Amino acid sequence: MADAPLSDALVFFGATGDLAFKQIFPALQVMVVRGGLSIPIIGVANAGWGLERFRQRARESLQAAGEFDPEAFRRLCQLLRYVDGDYRDTSTFARVHEALDGAERPLHYLAIPPSLFGTVVENLAWSNCLAQARVVVEKPFGRDLASARALNALLHRFLPESAIFRIDHYLGKEPVQNLLFFRFANVFLEPIWNLEHVRMVQVTLSEHFGVRGRGAFYEEVGAIRDVLQNHLLQIVGLLTMDAPFCKAPESLRDEKALIFKAMRAIDPAAAVRGQYRGYRKEPGVSPASQVETFAAVRMFIDSWRWADVPFYIRTGKFLPSNATEVFVELYHPPRPIFEEPSLAPNFVRFRLGPDVLISIGARAKKPGGLMRGEDVELVAIQSPGARMQPYARLLGDAIRGDVSLFARQETVEEAWRVVEPLLGNTSPLYEYEPGTWGPPEAETLIAPHGHWRPVLSPVRLAEVPRAAHPDELRRAGQEEAVQGVGPAAIH
Ligand code: BG6
Repeated sequence: MADAPLSDALVFFGATGDLAFKQIFPALQVMVVRGGLSIPIIGVANAGWGLERFRQRARESLQAAGEFDPEAFRRLCQLLRYVDGDYRDTSTFARVHEALDGAERPLHYLAIPPSLFGTVVENLAWSNCLAQARVVVEKPFGRDLASARALNALLHRFLPESAIFRIDHYLGKEPVQNLLFFRFANVFLEPIWNLEHVRMVQVTLSEHFGVRGRGAFYEEVGAIRDVLQNHLLQIVGLLTMDAPFCKAPESLRDEKALIFKAMRAIDPAAAVRGQYRGYRKEPGVSPASQVETFAAVRMFIDSWRWADVPFYIRTGKFLPSNATEVFVELYHPPRPIFEEPSLAPNFVRFRLGPDVLISIGARAKKPGGLMRGEDVELVAIQSPGARMQPYARLLGDAIRGDVSLFARQETVEEAWRVVEPLLGNTSPLYEYEPGTWGPPEAETLIAPHGHWRPVLSPVRLAEVPRAAHPDELRRAGQEEAVQGVGPAAIH
């Protein structure tokens, strides 16, 4: 994609909204500082604001994020323009056209509710702002398979697929990219990455906070639509797809699309929905709400590589920990030579946030005369994970026309197909106490294959020693430590 022309303006709709405040302004500042962003940035919203108020909002956003940098902010301000108006009014778009000031290949970023996508895209087309444009659309991309298809059909009336960038910020996260890199830049995982060796896979996205004032939004989505259909299935896709032929963006997306096609639609009988106690009292939430704030499911991938391997996925608000982790559990050795029933099975752990870790769980002999073992966790990489800016990466990619990290139409539609049987509250809803791992029924769900693995707590993670360079260890006279890194960090 090196030859794709750069976008020559960034227009972002929903410029006074929450997403812009929390994510977009900080990302833009990073792009100005590190990426040399120098194209006009035109904010559009219906707030009765002018440019000065808009700049002020940018400043407040950067200050709230603790990332205000006066020099970078000055440069960012020079790029900002602002258009105020109703999205249904064509005169708003005449002013957007005017603000583009001759830019021919704008990137339009729709940080607005999906119900407005159609109106905005149509008006952009009628006002001559779409001819060579690219369009970034935020999640949720539809509410189910039918609405996602309708949305795709609507966008395709005006835009080719190559100009549509469906954003899933998880794909822009450094550790999520590392999942792909670690799998395909090494040889040692590939021989075991299949049903012969993998006993089960667990993916957890747990958040230790509630809906944080987004009750009205959350009532429309629930955990299944909010994170399972997108972030979590994307992680499963990266974890299980075959190697792409090459680095070309479409090659990656081709392979990903294939694995999504092989994902079996989830059986409602293999799903547990939960709602934290107190959710119904949140502002914007119905007192009789049936919306889930927790979901745990078992799913399968019908391919030769993954047939019958259970994938257990759970996510929830107000859980005990704030973490996203993938845990790939391997089978026990074929014959037990050393009787150690208490030892954990071998595993590969990808901790994808908030801190980053890739590790391998193994068994090693305890020093001493007996052939007794202990669990060790070999840490391949570890970092605090701060300063990750998925939006800066993704918007930069979209400006360059690189589609690799954006979801393609068929993948989004397949993801809806996978969760479709769960939509419409098809499985019972259980209440759970905030600060617990969801309703006990989630344990029952996984019982045929074991237990949910505890995720690392950040404190625990800090205790995992970093991998030292062999020279460093030699200098310290600790040669034997070169053999392995770190004690067991689990449980
Ligand atoms: C968003 C969801 O897409 O992802 C939120 O709408 C969720 O409900 C968030 O909290 C999780 O993303 P991150 O990057 O904060 O882990």
